[in-house]
Amino acid sequence: MGQKYLITSALPYVNGELHIGHLVGCWLPSDVYARFCRAQGRDVLYVCGADEHGTPAIVGAAKENMPIKEYNDKYYEKHLQAVSDFNLSFDLYGRTHTELQEKLVQDLFTRLENQGLIEERETIQPFSVDDDMFLADRQLEGTCPKCGYEKARGDQCDNCSATYEATELKNPRSVISGSTNIEMRKTKNLFFLASKMQEEWRNWLKEHAPKWSKTASAIAMGWANEGLRDTSITRDLKWGIPVNKPGYEDKVFYVWFDAPWGYVSISMATNKDWESWWKNADCFYAQFMGKDNVKFHSVFFPEQELAMHDNWKTVDMLKSMNFLNFEGGKISKSTGNGIFLDNALTIAPSDCWRYALMASAPETDDTDFTMARFADIVNKDLNGMLGNFVSRVCKLSNKNFGDVVPNGNGIDKDLETKINEKLNDLTNALEKCEFRDAVFALRSLWAIANEYMTVKEPWALVKNGDMAGAAKALNECFQMIDLFARVSQPFIPDAAEKMQNVFKIKHDLSWPTKYEHRIANGEKFVVPENLFNRIELTNDK
Ligand code: MF3
Ligand code: ZN
Repeated sequence: MGQKYLITSALPYVNGELHIGHLVGCWLPSDVYARFCRAQGRDVLYVCGADEHGTPAIVGAAKENMPIKEYNDKYYEKHLQAVSDFNLSFDLYGRTHTELQEKLVQDLFTRLENQGLIEERETIQPFSVDDDMFLADRQLEGTCPKCGYEKARGDQCDNCSATYEATELKNPRSVISGSTNIEMRKTKNLFFLASKMQEEWRNWLKEHAPKWSKTASAIAMGWANEGLRDTSITRDLKWGIPVNKPGYEDKVFYVWFDAPWGYVSISMATNKDWESWWKNADCFYAQFMGKDNVKFHSVFFPEQELAMHDNWKTVDMLKSMNFLNFEGGKISKSTGNGIFLDNALTIAPSDCWRYALMASAPETDDTDFTMARFADIVNKDLNGMLGNFVSRVCKLSNKNFGDVVPNGNGIDKDLETKINEKLNDLTNALEKCEFRDAVFALRSLWAIANEYMTVKEPWALVKNGDMAGAAKALNECFQMIDLFARVSQPFIPDAAEKMQNVFKIKHDLSWPTKYEHRIANGEKFVVPENLFNRIELTNDK
């Protein structure tokens, strides 16, 4: 087995209505990368799952008037459906409300406490008089203390990504009842003394952040300059991981104290030897997430891991995406703006979304995605370049040479040079998790194939009676179909399989180091159905 690669995708909140933003933000980039790594023969452990704790589940269950456990089960099923619909190749799509997770997080707490990194503090918390309870995080809404956004959450602003204490929020109101009768009351909470980890964390960051994606390392370096604040890790809630300390029977751990450890507990639930990834310094760990998650993955989680002093694997590549907007606005279930994963497949098959979204990945800036853009990408790239090429080659060949690959004699040197250059670009871009560059290189390979056809004109050679010339050109095209099956697979696995099935012999989809002829003269093939169909936009989409 090859080198160990640990790959994780941020765990979406269980109640989140999944949409194309989740796909492009973490699920697809991580899946493309995982497939690429596996094709290279690397030993991959790739996990994700539902984040079941915190106020999102509590607030959501209350809205639907369901017990939280049942409510989570219902939404978890929807996650599983989306995972299978979009061909996401997780070793396991797990969840965080499990015994493994509880034990792991409580052990984490004990270990931190034993090292003197936990302190009990009296704090002032927002208490909703009308709801008769303390309000945590998303149970509270108000105006962001940093940017003035009016629908900021209790712990985090969706507009400027700032995080803060609930007491800092302006004009607080209860999400449960809408009441603004909020008092600040005293309560006790446990704090993780991040300040004591400052130096160790800074040294770690200096070594690691330069290798991350630009957005991620910029955000993390910002926190290094600001300095670490001790963080409250308990909440006055009834749902979550119970705090294993006398006097805290009514509280649970803060959702971000436990969530990242979901990566570990879900790994433990696979049938793989999880420690050979998580406790292995030679393993390479890549994390994928939206930019609002960067702080927790670059500061909080590694601090916890380092503080354990137990050889936990920390992140080597932190890839974060900016936000994807839709038709000029924020994606939101409540306003109905966006494409939601429970009906995306009624518009187009999974591969189309996978490719078009990765081609539009918000890597450097927030990006606007539109249906017009979607149709354009599918029609031009997938249908126009790749689909048509495969179909023309197979049909023309079948008509003139029957169901066997016509005879070639060696690689076209000129073509070989061009292809190898783009293949290198593609491999390097994927290695660096630069997905737009990767899509560009992939599309360039398809373009080279189309250009080859245009220049060689095998149909004209047939017409002029040069059957040997036509055969050679078509043979070269079949070799390219084989190449495309291999290099397209991380992005469009269904189409890749169709290209693989063009040949009666099953050639593996390992990642090529260079363009090569793997298809023998006279090998049997079948003309496939169209790989893609054009998307015609109607007014209601
Ligand atoms: N549930 C969080 C969100 O949707 C992400 C959790 S990622 C993990 O923003 F690392 F904590 F698991
Ligand atoms: Zn803000």
